[in-house]
Amino acid sequence: MQITDQKTIGEIVARDYRAAAVFTSYGIDFCCRGNRTLTEVCQGKDIKQDQLESKLNAAISTPVGDLPDFNSWPIDLLVDYVEKKHHRYINEATPVIQQYLAKLCKVHGHNHPELFEITEEFAQSAVDLAAHMKKEENILFPHVRKLAEAASAKEHMDPPVFGTVRNPVRMMMDEHTHEGDRFAKIAELSDQFTAPADGCTTYRVAFAMLKDFAADLHLHIHLENNIIFPACVEMEEMTV
Ligand SMILES: [Fe+2]
Ligand SMILES: [Fe+2]
Repeated sequence: MQITDQKTIGEIVARDYRAAAVFTSYGIDFCCRGNRTLTEVCQGKDIKQDQLESKLNAAISTPVGDLPDFNSWPIDLLVDYVEKKHHRYINEATPVIQQYLAKLCKVHGHNHPELFEITEEFAQSAVDLAAHMKKEENILFPHVRKLAEAASAKEHMDPPVFGTVRNPVRMMMDEHTHEGDRFAKIAELSDQFTAPADGCTTYRVAFAMLKDFAADLHLHIHLENNIIFPACVEMEEMTV
């Protein structure tokens, strides 16, 4: 979809929910006041239209489903990628989703009480994921970078304070399983992220964002569990 001034901002969001985050970042109400064109919105708010259009086009043209061959990447590069791409995404998307869920509970909670449970589960996930990522960023990943360096130089490495890399790997994998179960529950509670017939645009946007969040988390966990962690064990064996 190419952004043009022929469409209303509500139509743009309905066609591609990734546009919602851009409008929100400009303080533009695309839900209750979605029946306005980009020109009208920009004039009313003193926003540069070409700048807004290029941000919208960038947001909706991000390739999805066209992934690189991660298996061929050096492990230190993959660790950097996970941190910069997936950890950063969680940090950025979490408060936006929480903001939408809070609004949904307020407006639709009486008809859809499952929204409160979804919001509670997501809030707990936000707390747990923040702690989980800190452990990876501060303890495991710095060690993985050292392991990669020692393994490629075929050098000996003294054991880390946690004994063997298998220990933090096991802990991280347990936490991944826990998150996977939690998002399966959220998917079930939200009817696989499907907004009900009486749901407004915010409802659809929030659920689409949650669906995207779950998909990103699955890819993120896949990269760690299936590529990075087995490589850690292998590299450790090369450096004893
Ligand atoms: Fe991670
Ligand atoms: Fe992780």
